[in-house]
Amino acid sequence: MIQRPRRLRQNRSLREMVRETEILPRHLIQPLFIKEGTEKRPIPSMPGLFQWPLALVAREAAEIYKTGIRSVLLFGIPAKKDKKASGAYALDGIVQQAVAVIKEKIPELQVITDVCLCEYMDHGHCGLVNAKGEIENDSSLELITRTAVSHAEAGADIVAPSDMMDGRVAAIRSVVDIPIMSYAVKYASSFYGPFREAAMSAPAFGDRKTYQMDFANVREALREAALDEKEGADFLIVKPALPYLDIITKVSAQTSLPVVGYQVSGEYAQIVAAAQNGWLDKKQAVFESLTAIRRAGARLVITYFAKEFCAI
Ligand code: PBG
Repeated sequence: MIQRPRRLRQNRSLREMVRETEILPRHLIQPLFIKEGTEKRPIPSMPGLFQWPLALVAREAAEIYKTGIRSVLLFGIPAKKDKKASGAYALDGIVQQAVAVIKEKIPELQVITDVCLCEYMDHGHCGLVNAKGEIENDSSLELITRTAVSHAEAGADIVAPSDMMDGRVAAIRSVVDIPIMSYAVKYASSFYGPFREAAMSAPAFGDRKTYQMDFANVREALREAALDEKEGADFLIVKPALPYLDIITKVSAQTSLPVVGYQVSGEYAQIVAAAQNGWLDKKQAVFESLTAIRRAGARLVITYFAKEFCAI
């Protein structure tokens, strides 16, 4: 036999020599949930993860940095919600305070903030709701922009708008000069279920389908990515990741910006739940899924497994 691909798979060293995709701590971004209060609280829908109080978050961030991970993505869980998401852009908001304490302790760690209104709105939507129950686009931009500015002023290194309103990258770009990691392609996905429990941000009525994308669409994803790039985004996120590897590949082919795959809460919960039942090997499944996301074209991966994966 002349052609024998198995020759290159004979032993571990040889396999390592021909391995095409690497996954290193610096490729991973660890999301962190920050809550008001004093004790850390486990998240039932995401076993192994916690909501962190301000008093403990800097220590956790330091541990994350020690593994070689270079960035965290912050989500805030405020004590109070209202109709204009005041907590999102409050100068002493939970995320603004968390940025300050983390940057003070570990200035090298890149702090990315999720810029969205849903966790701070009493109705749980990502924008202002009008009398007809519609989620308004243009009036929401002002609050989203104000939120991004407040994060930048608190010391955030990168802002990550996740609301899927039209024109928000341009709006943010016109007032801040730090990198924007845009959730450019965000599908209306059932895989966000555990996150909404963790962040207490499920919409009180309706769904997010008038702003998040239909999961059947590819061309629309390329349009969204192109628009965000033109508006001044510096990174493009595709979310979720594993069910959307084709999108990651196609967006990567279209842009020269770094593409980021977001392995979302439901992807995390699937692996953890199956492993808890003894149905798969968690460590191997995590390694395989993260490698697949990188192989598809993601330069970076946002994953709840980041710290665990990198822990020595
Ligand atoms: C806020 C936001 C969500 C996620 C990230 N930012 C929830 C949503 O859009 O409902 C989901 C993250 C995850 O599931 O891990 N808009």
